[in-house]
Amino acid sequence: MNERTVVLIKPDGMEKKVVGQIIDRFERAGLNLIALKMVCLTQEILDVWYAHHKDKPFFSELCAAMMSCPVVAMVLEGEGAIQKVFAICGPTDPSEAQPGTIRRDFGESKPKNVVHRSDSVGAAQKEINLLFQPEELS
Ligand code: PPS
Repeated sequence: MNERTVVLIKPDGMEKKVVGQIIDRFERAGLNLIALKMVCLTQEILDVWYAHHKDKPFFSELCAAMMSCPVVAMVLEGEGAIQKVFAICGPTDPSEAQPGTIRRDFGESKPKNVVHRSDSVGAAQKEINLLFQPEELS
């Protein structure tokens, strides 16, 4: 199924200057980049984005980290894009990720795991609506 999914390059990924390498991995996998921009996330956006984590003890730490600098936000499209992007990123915890995945190669810890990616088609739609105007999607 042709799907759209969102990837954010988190502040720790921005600091490591691996933006180009990350985009390269998605393009090499045949995914189409249909939107790309830098965004300053706000508490209002993150309250919706991470609503399912609101009761977690790390919620405020997570939000503070995500607002610490502008992040790169992109929409990727392709056959089975959600699963493809999941495989390229690896699981949330870099120590559980396989070598060759973004999180294993560039990540340090669960909080510093370089990228956010949509969990599902529904999450992707919510995230696209939060960050992108329809005319920004090519
Ligand atoms: S949980 O509790 O299993 O649902 O959480 P998890 O899937 O491991 O992580 C969800 C997102 O929270 C980030 N995270 C953290 N941020 C800051 N501090 C701590 N301690 C922390 N632990 C987890 C993690 O990077 C996930 O972010 P996303 O954007 O979804 O990758």
